[in-house]
Amino acid sequence: MENKNIMDYETVELDDQENALVIIDQTKLPGKTEIIRLKTAQEMWDAIYLLQVRGAPAIGVAAAFGIYLLAKQIQAADYEAFYSEFKKQKEYLDSSRPTAVNLSWALNRMEKKVTDSKDKPVEEIKALLREEAIAIKEEDIRVCRTIGEYGLSLVKPGDGILTHCNAGQLATSKYGTATAPIYLGEERGYHFHVFADETRPLLQGARLTAYELLSSGVDVTLICDNMAATVMKNGWVNAVFVGCDRVAANGDTANKIGTSSVAIAADYYHIPVYICAPTSTIDMNTATGAEIHIEERPAEEITEMWYKERMAPEGVKVFNPAFDVTDHNLIAGIVTEYGIATAPFEESFREIFARKEEA
Ligand code: MRU
Repeated sequence: MENKNIMDYETVELDDQENALVIIDQTKLPGKTEIIRLKTAQEMWDAIYLLQVRGAPAIGVAAAFGIYLLAKQIQAADYEAFYSEFKKQKEYLDSSRPTAVNLSWALNRMEKKVTDSKDKPVEEIKALLREEAIAIKEEDIRVCRTIGEYGLSLVKPGDGILTHCNAGQLATSKYGTATAPIYLGEERGYHFHVFADETRPLLQGARLTAYELLSSGVDVTLICDNMAATVMKNGWVNAVFVGCDRVAANGDTANKIGTSSVAIAADYYHIPVYICAPTSTIDMNTATGAEIHIEERPAEEITEMWYKERMAPEGVKVFNPAFDVTDHNLIAGIVTEYGIATAPFEESFREIFARKEEA
């Protein structure tokens, strides 16, 4: 167990026999690989809120398995009683984090399975929920791989790629979104040079992205967030690939705090910024980034987290938004599993969703 490569672990798994949602506790990485088993709604909610499982697609998969496990244990005499309890549990899980649309996307998809099956016996509905949750995970793997293929078409062997936060395998079921082109490129001998922003305050870039890429043999250099402009100025970056938590209809993109600063610097140095986005992350019901709910997290994440001693004065005022919105005009392309959307994004998304409908 100790010597197993981090890439050989499943980010999110279902243990149907033990009624458990099984995850790697990402708050402990890279120091310790601890697998935890979540059984109650409260444990699942806490794991999402505390970022033990994190990254938009992984949160969606965890929520799908979670709601299935909770639904499975509902003792209800009829559909109405089952649905009313299901809805309560669904809303509770949905309240764990607000920005990544994949959470509500996956839960809504699970709910649709229930409402579409109202004439079926409750036990049959539970079996359908299991199938749907497994389908969500399997689709995530396929989607990430396809995003990788499209992303790879945007770069060439030997390129320097900068990424921010972790949109890697640990944020998805496999491959990651922003890391998928990097992993596919590695398989094909592209030998990219990757710069991973450490990503303050929770260090997803240092703890997770650098760890994943290093464990996969990718040439990765860890930098502090405030060094991104320097590596760009040095001519070491040919493209920026990042993930996203919610893309508005006009292309404005919410991703980990600091993404917009990276995009502004990249614009200055004429480096293209590509957002890797499963279509499940594109929210056509949100017109612009101004409507995206940006999660604010506890001050202690800045003043104390990850350090043995406090490193800021007691009582200091803290502003700690977990995400920011990158203006669509700073984005060269949004890489989805149905092709690469370009400006004007709203029009391009409609074509992408039409392709999805046809598939
Ligand atoms: O707060 P986190 O760690 O969940 O934030 C994650 C990100 O911002 C990722 O870039 C995003 O969810 C895309 S993951 C493929």
